[in-house]
Amino acid sequence: MRYLNEHFVPYDDNTQPTWRVSGYKETLTRTPNEALLTRPKTLSERVGPVRIEEKLMPACVDFEHTQTQAQGQRIYLRGRVLDSDGSPVRGAVLEIWQANASGRYRHAMDATNPNPLDPHFDGAFRLCTDARGEFALRTIKPGGYPVPQHPERWWRPPHIHFSVFGDGFASRLVTQMYFPGEPLNAQDRILHSVPDAQARARLIAQPMPMQAVPQTDHLGFCWDVVIRGAQQTPIEQTDTHATNHRTNSETNSETNGGTPQWR
Ligand SMILES: [Fe+2]
Repeated sequence: MRYLNEHFVPYDDNTQPTWRVSGYKETLTRTPNEALLTRPKTLSERVGPVRIEEKLMPACVDFEHTQTQAQGQRIYLRGRVLDSDGSPVRGAVLEIWQANASGRYRHAMDATNPNPLDPHFDGAFRLCTDARGEFALRTIKPGGYPVPQHPERWWRPPHIHFSVFGDGFASRLVTQMYFPGEPLNAQDRILHSVPDAQARARLIAQPMPMQAVPQTDHLGFCWDVVIRGAQQTPIEQTDTHATNHRTNSETNSETNGGTPQWR
């Protein structure tokens, strides 16, 4: 992707989130004060593994077969992964994780969450975009949850985490999708760490016309990911130095590596 840098308009820094979010202590540990030591990526890190979409074995989620007993509002999510010019990104591998309907993750770090786990819901998916750059997911609408151990007791709104692999394991774009009309969206510090209102809006899915939803018992939503350029989806970045915002030169050369925030 690097050779294309001269041919697309870079994003404005205000369309990307602030690295450190007040009241969200995890962002402190992910944003060191000093620049990290860097070393050149090896060829295999830059382009490997070959056929990542095969090695990670993504599979279309057949919710009806695997998690039909899960509790919560069933949703159908359809979206596209797009390049800066709107062209589809075919064969992109997406990893998706979310809380269950009660706002709890199936993750060791959420063990103190008093809400119950759902034995019929794992909340983790791996998909691959098709020839049109599209993906589709049937799942449960996640519940919101309070940010733990924070005196101001703010809540995360319902959201779904997305990671899009680039050419290899070292190239990832990590972000979150929100739901339209959620009152908690207005006060979410992660969402509002993106200064630009239009960029924040790009993180919020759109309702899908009911006639377009394949299953009558699912609510439908549409949401696209743009991997670079002026309309790039706001992303999480955790692996370089902690100035308030990243800069275009750091992120427009390729999709970004980074440690996904599990919650
Ligand atoms: Fe989360």
